[in-house]
Amino acid sequence: MIPITIDSEIGKSKILAGESISNVTQYLPDNKKIVIITDEKINAVYGHLFPKADLIIFIPQGEKNKSLQSAELIIQKMAEAEFDRSSFILAIGGGIVCDIAGFAAAIYMRGIKFGFVSTTLLSQVDASVGGKNGVNFGGYKNLVGTFCLPEFVICDPEMLKTLPQSELISGIAEVVKHGLIADANLFEFIEQNTDKIRKYDLNVLMRFVHDSVIIKSKSISRLCSMI
Ligand SMILES: NC(=O)c1ccc[n+]([C@@H]2O[C@H](COP(=O)([O-])OP(=O)(O)OC[C@H]3O[C@@H](n4cnc5c(N)ncnc54)[C@H](O)[C@@H]3O)[C@@H](O)[C@H]2O)c1
Repeated sequence: MIPITIDSEIGKSKILAGESISNVTQYLPDNKKIVIITDEKINAVYGHLFPKADLIIFIPQGEKNKSLQSAELIIQKMAEAEFDRSSFILAIGGGIVCDIAGFAAAIYMRGIKFGFVSTTLLSQVDASVGGKNGVNFGGYKNLVGTFCLPEFVICDPEMLKTLPQSELISGIAEVVKHGLIADANLFEFIEQNTDKIRKYDLNVLMRFVHDSVIIKSKSISRLCSMI
């Protein structure tokens, strides 16, 4: 596994495509308070692999819960547990968990460090890469948010095996988008591997993650230089 570094005007982030959740402790800061943000489903399947933490906060599932109320829940629980500016947020989940947790990290005490274990294909190829985070508001998607990069993003291929097929397809749609916009070879690779995609072939899925991260990181660097 070779980490891909995103280096932009909003900061640096290390994308660890192919890393295992079992190794997450080595990326966490020493002697700092750690809060894990996740949802009940991820916890039921992967809770036994979570690192040691001082607090765990569960976000209710579903797009309707990508809200200021969920961000407020995180802030309230962290404040009650006396988390300070040196604390660290570790989000373990799909795009919704990562978007809310990144937003909470960006605003808690004017910003604390955070990292992701990204558990859906969509979040590995898109949502957890690039520093966009936020919540929906008043019926508008992502109306409230910030640009803020995680310290690291772990994209563990093994976790994709338990994704429902509908979630796998959502992720593939983003890969097709990346292929169409920026990489004809990637698009051709998708066309040649439809059977393997259906079988959750992890080598194929990791090629999708790797190529998508490269495409997204280039576009972020370009956008940042235009801001
Ligand atoms: N920030 C960005 O740049 C960006 C980009 C694209 C999408 N998004 C956002 O991402 C969100 C969608 O994210 P998503 O598609 O990952 O959905 P999600 O986070 O809702 O996850 C989908 C479901 O799959 C479950 N799940 C997650 N990982 C699993 C696993 N390994 N095994 C079994 N079940 C698992 C979750 O518990 C959840 O019920 C949207 O809110 C969208 O706006 C953000």
